[in-house]
Amino acid sequence: MSASPLNCCINPSILSADFANLEAELARISNADAVHVDVMDNHFVPNLTIGLPVVERIQTVSPVPLDAHLMIANVDRWAPLYADAGLSSVTFHVEASDAPIKLARELRARGAKAGMALRPATPVEPYLDMLSELDMLLIMTVEPGFGGQAFLDVMLPKIRRAREAVDGSGVNVAIQVDGGITEETITRAAEAGANVFVAGSAVYGKPSPEDAIESLRTNGQLAFGPRGLQLTNTAHQPV
Ligand code: DX5
Ligand code: ZN
Repeated sequence: MSASPLNCCINPSILSADFANLEAELARISNADAVHVDVMDNHFVPNLTIGLPVVERIQTVSPVPLDAHLMIANVDRWAPLYADAGLSSVTFHVEASDAPIKLARELRARGAKAGMALRPATPVEPYLDMLSELDMLLIMTVEPGFGGQAFLDVMLPKIRRAREAVDGSGVNVAIQVDGGITEETITRAAEAGANVFVAGSAVYGKPSPEDAIESLRTNGQLAFGPRGLQLTNTAHQPV
């Protein structure tokens, strides 16, 4: 089966933004493909961020689509409500779901792209048969819970195997990586087969988040090699 060309999407994480000025912080990433919103409940991960009411408000003011990453327990109950809020994509952790296929179908039925995330120690192989139920597979490249951690190179073979499986089955599933993505590590992740990149500190930690996004996109797109589309300002599509 021939593999389709890859588009490099950069989704900055507002975990590294100023939470007291979120609307202004969103305006600083208007060239992003989507904004990555990390929802943590202090149960699934040892940290607490924001919940549905705040995400609903962000949805109404954001210039770019929302990509929610739910690091929460009881996700079968909560994730559909994020889809109802009009988010572009909703990603749940498979470790937190009792019925991931049912949940992915429910998200799609409510108009959101369905994403499924794997902790670093969760293998991808048991889930390859359900790729057609997903729009995005998120391979965590740090232990979820905190920004600013170092990229886990040990995840590169998992990204490679996921890419082979996606290309081999001909499904249209984005491969997202989250954690420790920088101008340097994005090259390795993109070469391995990821095409959607979450970056918190590497975007909001820079004086110009917009310039940081463009540098990341350039490096990611170049690392795709012949699989990449031509670099233009309008080539990318939101995920
Ligand atoms: C971690 C979050 C990430 C985090 C990434 O659990 O899911 O989205 O914000 O931050 P950086 O890019 O700084 O590693
Ligand atoms: Zn995240």
